[in-house]
Amino acid sequence: MTFRHPAAGTHPAFATPSYGSTALRAPKLAPLSLAQGPVELSGPRFDTSVLYPHHDDMTRQSTAAPLGERIIVAGQVRDENGHPVPNTLVEIWQCNAAGRYHHPRDDHDAPLDPHFNGNSRVLTDAQGHWKITTIKPGAYPWRNHPNAWRPAHIHFSVFGSSMLQRLITQMYFPGDPLLGDDPIFNSIPNDKVKERLISRFDWSLTQPEWALGYRFDIVLRGDEATPAN
Ligand SMILES: [Fe+2]
Repeated sequence: MTFRHPAAGTHPAFATPSYGSTALRAPKLAPLSLAQGPVELSGPRFDTSVLYPHHDDMTRQSTAAPLGERIIVAGQVRDENGHPVPNTLVEIWQCNAAGRYHHPRDDHDAPLDPHFNGNSRVLTDAQGHWKITTIKPGAYPWRNHPNAWRPAHIHFSVFGSSMLQRLITQMYFPGDPLLGDDPIFNSIPNDKVKERLISRFDWSLTQPEWALGYRFDIVLRGDEATPAN
């Protein structure tokens, strides 16, 4: 099985001047086109040995509940033909409700939450579905430009069935006033494609007396591909 190239205008350019750190990591030369071989058309396989205790509920990974608004986030991973991608690893990381990562390099003057480390891993089921319970992340400053604040977001890494499908991206929340001025979100060149990164509020995921639910489907490659971010 071979894979189509990404549709033009789906993914951000490697170098985006308004997103300062891309200048440090963007290739200086044009990419080479390589034939798809066994390395590209296969990928690592994961089983339940990589999952944490309470892997799908980030509000239960400590001795007490973290602070913040509890939310449920779920979706389906599909391939370029619309088929579910079963049993693939979805890795998730995010800051806490105050907008701070549990990471030594995060020195934002906001409280750490001893009951929230912001990491999770889930495997998709036979129909490509995954679901987590977590805390709604806060906005945080990032010094890219004066008064720069990231919109609330959750980071995702999805392996897919081959290395050509691997995707690292971010999920945003509907109605976030920071989206319009975020250089990372706006590094995606097409407004319609950008919308694929905004989760949908979903009553069918919302649980009464417990948590609001958001849906975030992920498409690996093809015309409907979820963009990298
Ligand atoms: Fe982030």
